[in-house]
Amino acid sequence: MSINKLKGSVTIKIEGRMIEVPENMTVTEALWNTGYDITRGIGCLSGLCGACSMVYRPKGAKRAKFGLGCQTVVQDGMDVIMVPFYPSKTAHYNISELDHPIEKLRDMYPEIDKCTQCGRCTYACPEWIHVSDAVKKSEDGKYEEVSRMMKPCIMCDLCAAVCHEDISPHFVALYIQRALAKEKLMPKRLIERFLNIEAFFNEHEWQKIISMSDKELIKYCQNYE
Ligand code: SF4
Ligand code: SF4
Ligand code: FES
Repeated sequence: MSINKLKGSVTIKIEGRMIEVPENMTVTEALWNTGYDITRGIGCLSGLCGACSMVYRPKGAKRAKFGLGCQTVVQDGMDVIMVPFYPSKTAHYNISELDHPIEKLRDMYPEIDKCTQCGRCTYACPEWIHVSDAVKKSEDGKYEEVSRMMKPCIMCDLCAAVCHEDISPHFVALYIQRALAKEKLMPKRLIERFLNIEAFFNEHEWQKIISMSDKELIKYCQNYE
């Protein structure tokens, strides 16, 4: 289908539909512009929440690219699909009930040893994290490095979606970060603060609060110093 282009506009294909949109818009704005269902795949609009993952092929490109709808500016001739929620493999655990959880990484995510270092996850990551390297470091027990490398992760799921071994690098890293946090000694002041909070929950004042009606609660909060 050919479209007579208006000045200052580009033609893109979104989920199979050719549309003309003003240039300089992001893909998300272009979706809004066409009345696309905005309840799916829209979140922070700041590149932070990972809700708007997308795959696109720039005009004439041999290889598709990955990105975030709210951070990618439309390009004439691009072909885009938004990635719906991807069911990445997630282990179920309660970190506070595990002794030395870092030693149980392979019980939770045994597939990390199957990583072929193909690099697809790194190519897909919109945060430019060297994801395959983080997976290798997870295998090698370099957990502090994994935790540091994966800090910019926004949990967009793209690395898991492209992995042919069904590895979820972002959830592996999250487990490592939680396990390290549990094993580290907490600063003294933080421990004191937790004890204060615990005491508050156990004391009479808290019992009074949870038995209040909404009206009483509002009044209580207004008078709280
Ligand atoms: S896509 Fe999967 S197999 Fe390939 S490097 Fe990443 S984690 Fe390893
Ligand atoms: S590591 Fe994976 S989940 Fe995290 S931002 Fe990169 S692609 Fe998204
Ligand atoms: S809407 Fe949150 S990253 Fe795009």
